[in-house]
Amino acid sequence: MERLRRLRTSPQLRNLVRETCVNVSDLVYPLFVIEGENTKNPVRSMPGIYQYSIDRLDEELERIDEAGISAVLIFGIPSYKDEAASEAYNSEGVTQRAVRHIKKRNPELIVIADICLCEYTSHGHCGLVRGGEILNDETLELLCKMSLSLVRAGADIIAPSDMMDGRVGAIRRALDDEGFINTPIMAYSAKYASAYYGPFREAADSAPKFGDRKTYQMDSANVKMAMREIKADIDEEADIVMVKPALAYLDVIKEASLRFDYTLAAYNVSGEYSMVKAAAMQGWIDEKRVVLENLTAIKRAGAKIIITYHALEAAKWLKETE
Ligand code: PBG
Ligand code: ZN
Repeated sequence: MERLRRLRTSPQLRNLVRETCVNVSDLVYPLFVIEGENTKNPVRSMPGIYQYSIDRLDEELERIDEAGISAVLIFGIPSYKDEAASEAYNSEGVTQRAVRHIKKRNPELIVIADICLCEYTSHGHCGLVRGGEILNDETLELLCKMSLSLVRAGADIIAPSDMMDGRVGAIRRALDDEGFINTPIMAYSAKYASAYYGPFREAADSAPKFGDRKTYQMDSANVKMAMREIKADIDEEADIVMVKPALAYLDVIKEASLRFDYTLAAYNVSGEYSMVKAAAMQGWIDEKRVVLENLTAIKRAGAKIIITYHALEAAKWLKETE
């Protein structure tokens, strides 16, 4: 008889044969920064997540330090929005100031800048709009300007999440031309048009005012297309590629990890977080165990980097279980 239970008889033995371990160093924690002073706004749909004004960021940075988190993904939310997304590439914009603040206070913390226009446009779309259409090529120039201004502010990694075609190549050239040859690009390569982004749009004030994002984000039914998206970004010299969301797309993560020898990231998105929180608050699930199981599943599927709102708590739990 095949006695598989032999290797499960003690915690030590189970640890010894465990195939997948999530490390604190795998986790990226998203941060929402708003304008104004002395503000810490709870995001109603994401219990435990807040929008901070820059002067209140330090308390969160302290927790990040304490947890041993090594990277944050920064989302700035300007109060002024227009059709050209001007605040996205304003050197004194809220995101640029936040990046400068973080890098000054904690030079070692990896600051990843999300590159997209939806937090900055009056219509809430990820690109420029003309006659109800989201323009591709015209948007690229603004994404390049935004990337450059955030790298100049101190961002360590540029992460385009807009899903315009050709943006990775355009941003790479813009960075190289200005001498930033060592700034990596983490591309949101296979980003699906997902209902799981619902809570995020409250956190980032980035919901589209008309229509949806289905002409640029991917159809959730497609996996071959995801491989084409990832391949296109690799050909344009992306350093890290991403699948987003994570939990409903573990098959896509798996396929990408088998197919490409590139560092793979997965985004455990807002809706995935909020569902766990909601059930935990009702006492219906054991939050710690469910979160660690989810993160392990994402890593087991093949992602190395996991972007997650659970990062602070998960880091604490991971240290306990070590
Ligand atoms: C901006 C962006 C979104 C997310 C990350 N960057 C929202 C969207 O595309 O509508 C989603 C993150 C989440 O749900 O946690 N383009
Ligand atoms: Zn966007």
